[in-house]
Amino acid sequence: MAASIKPKTQIRLMQYDDIEEISLIDKDSYIYPWSKGIFRDCLLADYYNQVIEIEKTIVGYSVMTINTEGAHILNLCIEKNHRGNGLARRLIYSMIFHTQINNKNKIMLEVRVSNIKAISLYKSLGFYSVGIRQKYYRGISEREDALLLNKKI
Ligand SMILES: CC(C)(COP(=O)(O)OP(=O)(O)OC[C@H]1O[C@@H](n2cnc3c(N)ncnc32)[C@H](O)[C@@H]1OP(=O)(O)O)[C@@H](O)C(=O)NCCC(=O)NCCS
Repeated sequence: MAASIKPKTQIRLMQYDDIEEISLIDKDSYIYPWSKGIFRDCLLADYYNQVIEIEKTIVGYSVMTINTEGAHILNLCIEKNHRGNGLARRLIYSMIFHTQINNKNKIMLEVRVSNIKAISLYKSLGFYSVGIRQKYYRGISEREDALLLNKKI
């Protein structure tokens, strides 16, 4: 029987050259995508910026900062055709590990209250709701609230 070859998935740090590719995924995923300048600023600021690749093609990314309060996830996104395969979960595990090795005991993030998929993903990893930031996000007809989630490390 022929052995099946598993496609190689790897996580690595984001580089400036990745911004074009990442920006396409971002535009295809969000109503209000980030500009390329925002991604550049995140690299300049030396945030914890990751990409996840399958066979050297970028299929997702994440951006997280670390400050005195703890870690803050600012973006997490997987290309539409690659969702539902545990890739976001892998990026989050890596962010949790990075938070641990930086001796921080909390990760926080905001997520649109309508983003059921992301909320269920975060909750499955031990994030819990600590509040609502009212009218935090732009929306088509009106602004949308953000659910504020924390995870203790
Ligand atoms: C949210 C997002 C990052 C999830 O990425 P993903 O790689 O598909 O997620 P995973 O495959 O790692 O899913 C893990 C968990 O997410 C949840 N999830 C994923 N797809 C789901 C769906 N269609 N419905 C409900 N829950 C879902 C489940 O809890 C799932 O766990 P399970 O596989 O054990 O059931 C992805 O949908 C995305 O990029 N969305 C657009 C950008 C975005 O909204 N980012 C989040 C901003 S805070």
